[in-house]
Amino acid sequence: MFHIIGTGMYVPERIVTNDELSTMVDTNDEWIKQRVGIAERRVSTEEWTSDMAYKAALAALENANCKPEDLDYIITATVSGEYVSPSTACMVQKLLGATCPALELNAACSAFLFLLETAAGLFARKKANKILVVGAERLSGIMDWSDRGTCIIFGDGAGAAVLESGVDGYLDSVVTVQGNDEVIKIPTNIGCSPFFTKENDTPYIHMMGQETFKYAVSSICNDVNTLLAQNNLTLDDIRYIVPHQANKRIIDFAAKRLKTTEDKFYMNIERYGNTSSASIPIALDELHRAGKLNPGDYIILTAFGGGLANAACLIRW
Ligand code: COA
Repeated sequence: MFHIIGTGMYVPERIVTNDELSTMVDTNDEWIKQRVGIAERRVSTEEWTSDMAYKAALAALENANCKPEDLDYIITATVSGEYVSPSTACMVQKLLGATCPALELNAACSAFLFLLETAAGLFARKKANKILVVGAERLSGIMDWSDRGTCIIFGDGAGAAVLESGVDGYLDSVVTVQGNDEVIKIPTNIGCSPFFTKENDTPYIHMMGQETFKYAVSSICNDVNTLLAQNNLTLDDIRYIVPHQANKRIIDFAAKRLKTTEDKFYMNIERYGNTSSASIPIALDELHRAGKLNPGDYIILTAFGGGLANAACLIRW
């Protein structure tokens, strides 16, 4: 139905190391590296989410040898856009000078897989020949920088892909949502209505670390096993599993439980931390540009996060 013809990414220049974080909260480089696997992350100093999305989109378009006018849809995902409206998708359309419809969705850290699933519907209806999908986040703007349970984990960045109809590269998918606002949540600003009587938490990322960890490991394992079973494949047939980059230990646990080795999983968390919806397209772009993906390779993308939403898909490159 469709395949990926180009990828792109963008991360801001400013690097924040674990040592720098340890001057802000009670933490240290050794703890973060051991418990999470992150050495540094990027933080935006002047770019909004849509600026980063635009730069990743440009890179993907160039990689796909496409122009903005070739696009039939732009679909973005974010939890940290500068506006609720216009969406980041509308801003990317504006910055690119494209004229196609543009829309945004929110499925937190799993959103890139929801973008692919949404695009699949548009391709199936023959409403599009080329679709740009972008996950972009300025999570530094929605983090409590005094909370060491969250501020050590997240980073900013954007990843994009250009999808084209015709070749059957998106083979199968699993999508699961269990509505839950206890494990992970990002409250919005409560506003200033003089009529509203309820209180809300601060408008930053709130997370129960250990519950998230357990949910993450089991959703990766369940989703990967479901895709393998549904498609009569084993892990030996899969060139790479590209997981949402949340915690290296989550991936180590999942690898063990799936009876495979860590090198089956692509990881770049050490350099960027968790960039939510941008994490999988950034990883995909790095793999692609490093020449590690060959035509015909089977890849599994797998993600989990706020919602609680988890998803995975099987791709033939
Ligand atoms: N620096 C140093 N020490 C820290 C710390 C930090 N940033 N955060 C917690 N600690 C300490 C705790 O106080 C505790 O100390 P104690 O044993 O003396 O009481 C100890 O480290 C263990 O704390 P705990 O909360 O059990 O740590 P953890 O191993 O669960 O790691 C997370 C915390 C958040 C890194 C981990 O739970 C995690 O990665 N969860 C998943 C998060 C995730 O993937 N989120 C994104 C979803 S999309």
